[in-house]
Amino acid sequence: MGRVIIVSGTPGTGKSSLAKRLAERLSGIHIDLSSFVLKEGLYTDYDVERASFIVDEEALINRLKEIICRNRLVIIDSHYGEIIPSDYVDKVIVLRTDPEELEKRLWRKGWWWEKIRENVEAEILSVCTHNAIRVYGEKRVYEIDTTNKTIDQVLEEALEIIEEEKGEPGLKYDWLILKPLEKLEKYLIKT
Ligand SMILES: Nc1ncnc2c1ncn2[C@@H]1O[C@H](COP(=O)(O)OP(=O)(O)O)[C@@H](O)[C@H]1O
Ligand SMILES: [Mg+2]
Repeated sequence: MGRVIIVSGTPGTGKSSLAKRLAERLSGIHIDLSSFVLKEGLYTDYDVERASFIVDEEALINRLKEIICRNRLVIIDSHYGEIIPSDYVDKVIVLRTDPEELEKRLWRKGWWWEKIRENVEAEILSVCTHNAIRVYGEKRVYEIDTTNKTIDQVLEEALEIIEEEKGEPGLKYDWLILKPLEKLEKYLIKT
């Protein structure tokens, strides 16, 4: 059975850019879960309001297990990577981006404000890191801040974590603590 590295993070943090390069450098295969689901028809429905497909999780897990069994190293690129059973997963790299920088990257993707706001809010609340820690435990989850770094710098940091066990695992970039509240308020739902 092959080794699995999950690259997680809010959309726009650079998962696909990193995962593609990691797969090249480590001679692994790169699976972008969202495009894999579409390509393989692993969905049950389409949610018009959220403009997204409803994933057939059981079918997806079975397909991924087959691929993991046939390959030495699989890099899973997804913000819902937690569907991979814990036994299969070696490490999770969660990419983090300063909320203001993330907003800029998401406008460049052509997204609309409410979709951007929702995703930046998830980044502020460290949702991907908390989800990964809940499923895989703190010792296997490593964050990398991508703000003001090139994709190549992020790649080198990821290689150090994967190959040399460098860096400390766990939540490191809690924007609620690191940023003044007035910079974050516009992204947070007011109740
Ligand atoms: N470290 C980085 N610094 C600046 N821009 C980046 C970085 N990593 C990715 N990007 C850019 O951000 C956008 C989103 O990257 P992408 O890899 O598609 O993210 P994701 O797969 O997480 O949605 C792309 O335009 C990409 O070129
Ligand atoms: Mg992507």
